[in-house]
Amino acid sequence: MRLFEKIALVTGAAGGIGSAVALSFAGEGAFVIVSDINASGCAETLELLERNGGSGILVLADVTKEEEIRALYCHIQERCGRLDIVVNIAGGDCEPAADIDEIDYLKMSANLDLNLKSCIISCREAARLMKPQGYGKIVNMSSLVYRGSPNQFSYSAAKGGIYAFTRSLALSLGRYGITVNSLAPALVEVPAFVAALGIERWEMLRKECAQRYPLGRVATPDDVARCALFLASDDAAFITGQILEISGGARL
Ligand SMILES: NC(=O)c1ccc[n+]([C@@H]2O[C@H](COP(=O)([O-])OP(=O)(O)OC[C@H]3O[C@@H](n4cnc5c(N)ncnc54)[C@H](O)[C@@H]3O)[C@@H](O)[C@H]2O)c1
Repeated sequence: MRLFEKIALVTGAAGGIGSAVALSFAGEGAFVIVSDINASGCAETLELLERNGGSGILVLADVTKEEEIRALYCHIQERCGRLDIVVNIAGGDCEPAADIDEIDYLKMSANLDLNLKSCIISCREAARLMKPQGYGKIVNMSSLVYRGSPNQFSYSAAKGGIYAFTRSLALSLGRYGITVNSLAPALVEVPAFVAALGIERWEMLRKECAQRYPLGRVATPDDVARCALFLASDDAAFITGQILEISGGARL
């Protein structure tokens, strides 16, 4: 078991990728704090995790609210006394398919709040717990659009910001035995995506990407979970400040 007796926080744990990460960590022996804004989705993840023999707790938090992030970490400290792993997954594109002259201030701000500022504040709270322990693994969810993506201006800026922040934090926390890395998936098939696009548009997008990606398919949540597990485990003990592209070779 690669995470035996580790305490791990997973945000966005009701979602396609977050639930796969929570289940995989629990399967490797971690006690998982399952967190999201979606109460029923989170409860489903926890139920599945427990049915598979894992253990954890559910703590709801809106990551766009600083006080809720703070309360989440206070709860973890009181309940668990320490925190070994954080995977900041909660996120999403609040301004999809907008041309440059259509950028909307509120949607742009929503993208920065949900994807970037939430990650920075969560990492601040994580560092406060992890520094005295002299141990910690932080994994932040970027996206392959960190390289740039037409019509995803504010989302790609937020995900690129996560990479820059990850590198800065890795420089600062290394001496405390804390690693900080990020994940950059290309298109991942998750139920929310399929529901938002509708099955026909989703199938067109999936086929178009599969043709472009050298490995000939889009990613699954398990592809991402395996990479999160690697970076959260001591297999990646000497890796920090990196971005791991989970892209099937896209954009090489
Ligand atoms: N699916 C993809 O193709 C893809 C590719 C690259 C990166 N990502 C990133 O992966 C992460 C997970 O996305 P997903 O594909 O699993 O989608 P998803 O919609 O299934 O999951 C996102 C989760 O974040 C939660 N969330 C949203 N707003 C929140 C808030 N304010 N506070 C707390 N939780 C909140 C949602 O409830 C949901 O459970 C996101 O950060 C996304 O940007 C996804």
